[in-house]
Amino acid sequence: MNIDIYNSYDNMCKKVVEDIRYAINFNMFSEYFTLGLATGSTPLSIYKYIRDENWEANKVTTFNLDEYSDLPYNHPQSYEHFMEENLFMYKQFRYSYFPENERYDDLIKNKGGIDIQILGIGTNGHIAFNEPGSSRDSLTRKVELTENTRKDNSRFFDSIDDVPTHAWTMGIESIMRAKQIYLLASGKHKKEILEKACHGEITSDVPASFLQEHNNVEVLYCD
Ligand code: PGA
Repeated sequence: MNIDIYNSYDNMCKKVVEDIRYAINFNMFSEYFTLGLATGSTPLSIYKYIRDENWEANKVTTFNLDEYSDLPYNHPQSYEHFMEENLFMYKQFRYSYFPENERYDDLIKNKGGIDIQILGIGTNGHIAFNEPGSSRDSLTRKVELTENTRKDNSRFFDSIDDVPTHAWTMGIESIMRAKQIYLLASGKHKKEILEKACHGEITSDVPASFLQEHNNVEVLYCD
């Protein structure tokens, strides 16, 4: 997988938004487009730019990659709340779903599969909450978060003790079924793991490395 290097975070995000616009306007996939969404700091400007897009959001269905379990629905750190604040309060999509049980992959399939999936990468190589050790054929399931991930995410909570210990996540196989994937990383602290994921051994120790087996992945990086 080639890594496309961008000179700014905003330009990197604009590129993804342009591609999504093109895919929707030219019905590249289907009339009812399906967009896979990620949370975290990496896609924030993607959502900022999508807010200004003119395409009809009511023809687009969204699927989020993951969601903490055991957080109340309207908890400020739930991923549903994150999406509401950053995108959904500005754009009314046809349907928006979050994983909360093992039927999620069937739901995605029934909606025609994910056309474009936006993806970040954790400093330990995770994609969604597929932590190191996750198997290539994993589907949507409830997982225990590693200390590394809870520590990374504690910046959004008062303390690490407040970070949930479990989450629902799409599996590696669920993600690999997307027709097109954009893997984004922003910041020098992500460079080493991104290199490993793109050019290193394909191994469950670095879950993002499985993306090397997908035939339609774009990798975008900025310092
Ligand atoms: P980040 O998280 O976008 O907040 O860096 C990415 C991830 O952990 O998948």
